[in-house]
Amino acid sequence: MSDYTPTPEDRFSFGIWTVGWQGVDVFGPGTRPPMPADRAVRKLAEIGAYGVNFHDNDVFDFDAAPAERQGAIDAFRKALDETGLVVTTATTNLFGHPVFKDGAFTANDRDIRRFALRKVMDNLDLAAELGAKTYVCWGGREGAESGASKDVRTALDRYKEAFDVLGAYVADQGYDIRFAIEPKPNEPRGDILLPTIGHALAFIQTLERPETVGLNPEVGHEEMAGLNYAHGLAQALWQGKLFHIDLNGQHGPRYDQDLRFGAGNTRGAFWVVDLIDRSDYDGPVHFDFKPPRTEDDQGVWESAAACMRNWLILREKVRAFRADPDVQAALREAKADELAQPTLAGGEDWRSVRDATVDAEALGRRRTAFEHLDQLALEHLYGVRS
Ligand code: GCO
Ligand code: MN
Ligand code: MN
Repeated sequence: MSDYTPTPEDRFSFGIWTVGWQGVDVFGPGTRPPMPADRAVRKLAEIGAYGVNFHDNDVFDFDAAPAERQGAIDAFRKALDETGLVVTTATTNLFGHPVFKDGAFTANDRDIRRFALRKVMDNLDLAAELGAKTYVCWGGREGAESGASKDVRTALDRYKEAFDVLGAYVADQGYDIRFAIEPKPNEPRGDILLPTIGHALAFIQTLERPETVGLNPEVGHEEMAGLNYAHGLAQALWQGKLFHIDLNGQHGPRYDQDLRFGAGNTRGAFWVVDLIDRSDYDGPVHFDFKPPRTEDDQGVWESAAACMRNWLILREKVRAFRADPDVQAALREAKADELAQPTLAGGEDWRSVRDATVDAEALGRRRTAFEHLDQLALEHLYGVRS
């Protein structure tokens, strides 16, 4: 058993806004003081993180004067240099200021759309300067509460236009940056555009530079839509589109809970770690959670450290599960490996199965043994096998 100490090879990263969340919600103000970005960087380094992701306005205020903006960036950069933390990812706050109350890329008001593009380009410059390779686009305000106010097909035209313009900017500047769209079904808008992994995957294919745009799926967002996050990640991987992940915890379809990773649907988390651990995903293992508003500063860091610890605990469990000879036998009995065999053999075509005859009754009686396999997984998770 390891002591679950994070290492740089684990590539754990956090959004500056996660530990910096003051606890403001729709029913009350913050319960914690503001946290400057440079303090977040130093504390994250202390608990063993490898990298960070930031919104422009996590570092400087929306209306910061140029000198103030530069001072905040310098302090952020100094903390990065001193701690060795990597900026893996950056993103834009296109949701906080009232100007974005009807969205940014898909706001009905054209002046707002033009300003949103400019705001993203400003932060792309900073992202490139700080070495970020992924640029997350979460369109929390791109959506509607009412039917006629937003023509969805036209809004999607504008959404596509925004990605095409930004893709051209990145290419023209020679930046080594790819975009990662973060789907979410609702909250803060009643209904958000590109609500799930599937919607976003289909959208990407319409873009001028589809190869430079992938996904940043979040545990809670898919589970709010009642979907299986690990299955969504698997399809994104299958399509070469898993550019980033936002890990946290959620209990089914309710408000976006943003619990620490591992504290929500634990069984789902087990399969997420199993999938990523066995995949070629090489992006950051990124946490986008919110320390509950009940917590003080100490609780914030305990909650952040627990995200990494829970990942490492689950990683130990999924590896033990895969190495267990009983599991390997159960996988064979479940024919998990047979699925890798193409349905047609080499040289065959539809003619080969056109008149296939089977004993359907006998096939229907064949044992799958899936329950046995799944129970072994649960027993690893529950800690009674190792
Ligand atoms: C949310 C989102 C955000 C985004 C972040 C990056 O539901 O609040 O998950 O936390 O990930 O804004 O753009
Ligand atoms: Mn979220
Ligand atoms: Mn997120």
